[in-house]
Amino acid sequence: MEPFFKFAALIAVSASLPLAAFAQNTKKPIDPAIVDKYIQSTFGKAPKEWQDRIIPDETLKACNAAHNDVSSAEADKITAREMMRVVYPADGKFLGDWREGAKIANNGRGGQFSDPPDTVAGGNCYACHQMEQKEVSYGTLGPSLTNYGKDRKYDAAAIKDAYTKVYDSQAVLACSNMPRFGANKVLKEQQIKDIVAFLFDPVSPINK
Ligand code: HEC
Repeated sequence: MEPFFKFAALIAVSASLPLAAFAQNTKKPIDPAIVDKYIQSTFGKAPKEWQDRIIPDETLKACNAAHNDVSSAEADKITAREMMRVVYPADGKFLGDWREGAKIANNGRGGQFSDPPDTVAGGNCYACHQMEQKEVSYGTLGPSLTNYGKDRKYDAAAIKDAYTKVYDSQAVLACSNMPRFGANKVLKEQQIKDIVAFLFDPVSPINK
């Protein structure tokens, strides 16, 4: 083919592609079963317990079906259901060691089947939140948590609420984009206490 015709053919193909994609989107919504099958295929040869992780629970099913925009009745059902999963510390103490919490907030390791078995998972909080001000690398999907404890006057009820939020974000807000760290066994009770201390200890750099 002459170079000019090659060029013209390329234009024709690339011009028709977005149109085709658009037509598909408007005429026929993508079957969720195809999406599920695709996601399953990306898990390859992962062990069975990992395969089970991608099966959505009742809450995720409801959120997925509504593209996270659930009715207020459904939202109430979700927060009530998730609230039942929250396990509060037996000793009634919500505050651990903020220094450990700072490390957990910064740690994005864990949750991959290539991890060595003794890997301690982190909270990866900075992926979505600004926390201590000297940290310049953070995501903005979630609100800034700078001065979180100070702004709440280190109030006991707010401390408990933060524990609940980190343990199971959807116990507080249905279809939250934030992971359910305690309920899904990503973080252990002591780690959540340390994180809450990072948010609420008056000497934590979050409150400086
Ligand atoms: C994938 C993103 C993501 C990650 C990771 C994440 N969060 Fe969030 N978080 C959010 C979003 C989005 C919100 C706002 C919506 C909501 O309240 O659920 C939020 C809300 C919060 C709130 C409530 C803020 C308020 O307005 O009072 C707290 C506290 C919080 N996150 C703490 C944490 C901590 C601590 C971690 C790490 C253990 C963490 N988050 C990890 C996305 C995330």
